Amino acid sequence: MKTEVNSNDLMSVCKRRGFIWPSFELYGGVAGMYDYGPTGFSLRNNIVEVWRDIYKGREGFVEIDSETVNPREVFKASGHVDNFEDLITYCTKCQAPFRADHLVKPFYENADVLSASDLEKAFIEHGVVCPECGGKLGPVEEFNLMFKTTIGPGSARIGYLRPETAQGIFVNFLNLYRYNREKLPMGVIQTGRGYRNEIAPRQGMIRMREFNMMEVELFVDPEDKDWVRFKDIENDILTLVPNTGDETVTMSVKEAVDKKIIANRVLAYFVNTTRQLLTRLGINPEKLRFRQHLKDEMAHYAADCWDAEVLLSYGWTEITGIADRGCWDLSRHAEFSGTELTHFKKFDEPKEMEVTKIIAKHKALGPKFKGKAKDISAAMESKTPGDIKNGNLTVNIDGEDIILTDEFFEIATVNEKVSGERVVPHVIEPSHGLDRIFYSILEHAYVFDEEKGYAVLRLKPEVAPIKVGVFPLMEKDGLDVLAKQIYEKVHTPRIEAYYDGAGTIGKRYARMDEIGTPWCITVDYEAFEGKDAGTVTIRDRDSSQQKRIPIDSVPSVIDSLLTGKPFSDL
Ligand code: ATP
Ligand code: GLY
Repeated sequence: MKTEVNSNDLMSVCKRRGFIWPSFELYGGVAGMYDYGPTGFSLRNNIVEVWRDIYKGREGFVEIDSETVNPREVFKASGHVDNFEDLITYCTKCQAPFRADHLVKPFYENADVLSASDLEKAFIEHGVVCPECGGKLGPVEEFNLMFKTTIGPGSARIGYLRPETAQGIFVNFLNLYRYNREKLPMGVIQTGRGYRNEIAPRQGMIRMREFNMMEVELFVDPEDKDWVRFKDIENDILTLVPNTGDETVTMSVKEAVDKKIIANRVLAYFVNTTRQLLTRLGINPEKLRFRQHLKDEMAHYAADCWDAEVLLSYGWTEITGIADRGCWDLSRHAEFSGTELTHFKKFDEPKEMEVTKIIAKHKALGPKFKGKAKDISAAMESKTPGDIKNGNLTVNIDGEDIILTDEFFEIATVNEKVSGERVVPHVIEPSHGLDRIFYSILEHAYVFDEEKGYAVLRLKPEVAPIKVGVFPLMEKDGLDVLAKQIYEKVHTPRIEAYYDGAGTIGKRYARMDEIGTPWCITVDYEAFEGKDAGTVTIRDRDSSQQKRIPIDSVPSVIDSLLTGKPFSDL
């Protein structure tokens, strides 16, 4: 049994067995783009269902689906227009483009923190030349990874394909906050496409230009970074690589927080949730670690960030990023949209506090606005000094924006009993790359059975695309009729079954093993006569063991195996 995987061998199984196909192969293909075939799509959906089960089912978060094309304003506010860049260099001879940091990876622990001039110096120091033709590399420049487009005909409005689904959640903050009855914490999940015009995608599904994400945005009170179920998991063990040194340490979640290795309990809880999710999906726990970003490696929005990295044939690879985004996104969208995006935090008891507030000048408002003056002054006094833009305050009355200069208001500091204050929520974000998880699960499930002479995917039953194969030993003598009846009974929206009557039984088992089907039912002649009449065989993928079970019990046996009953207990 060989467990080392060569990504080419795995990709060839994936292509042959309908998991994944390079997109547009008919026209020569496009780097960094893949289509999911029927088995791959089922596996991917099953991964999403496990993620949903944890976040919607266990944590009670809500799920939304937002647009993939966004107007420029969204990504100007989020910082992606100005900061979402990789460093690029072109070969001066063959013009091939390269991600500059990837060319010096062998010489540096964290090449992606090097600046453009550091990289140019590194090319000279280490004699790095074009890997394609040996030519001299040109200057290192910034390259924005977002795909640009226009919304509407002509150059009506600049838009971008979203590089992350997260912004769709942030721009809907007020809708979500109202839906959540204005309470924190508030958890929102979204799965969908992300687009990044990667410079040189050379690592299969690890670096795609159009990819799938499963993102979670949890809005919390900035002064209450705790989690209600922390106690349940505080003794779970994490493998961590903190940014204080290169050493890998193993410790409980509680210890990681107590020693201030992970900044707070809520971030630690969701690092652990990521561990639970990935191992439940089939990531080998011994090939999983959480690496903290170095300060200068952190994305422009992150206050702390941990990557879930898995060991693949490509080396340690990030498949999930868990970030404390602080108040970055909501503050920026509030600033750029001119709309307050805050949470009203009620005090346990009203407090006497110094409050700086807007006071409407009724004497000035009355003569100018007549009957509307009362509504305008109430709207003004519900605003805060932070809402004043360029010295003016804008209020909306019956759908009309009214701009008020400072002749209509003053700012005063008064002592008042207040029942609460407005705070900008902080965001904790586990951002999962669905395709990278998909590929990693396949690598960790792959074994080459030398005795049988073919690859077996030891996928967890919960994610396996097909749960059970149903075969007649021969497609005749009524064996096929009975096998089809069993297939009809066992195949449900939850349990995908597969009927196969063609070819030798060995080849049919091999086909199921290669796509990771955990169990196969075979109808043989004993089903009709002798001491085993009324029974069929069930075969276990991982042990190749076979047992006889009553025909009527097939659906319930599959159900019990799926909920964790060991095959040996049948
Ligand atoms: P990398 O450093 O590998 O480019 P990243 O740090 O830019 O990744 P994030 O911005 O944290 O990645 O994105 C969140 C998750 O989305 C990643 O953990 C990864 O699983 C996934 N992801 C990001 N870029 C790609 C891509 N080009 N193809 C496939 N998945 C991706
Ligand atoms: N939403 C996290 C990221 O895309 O980086």
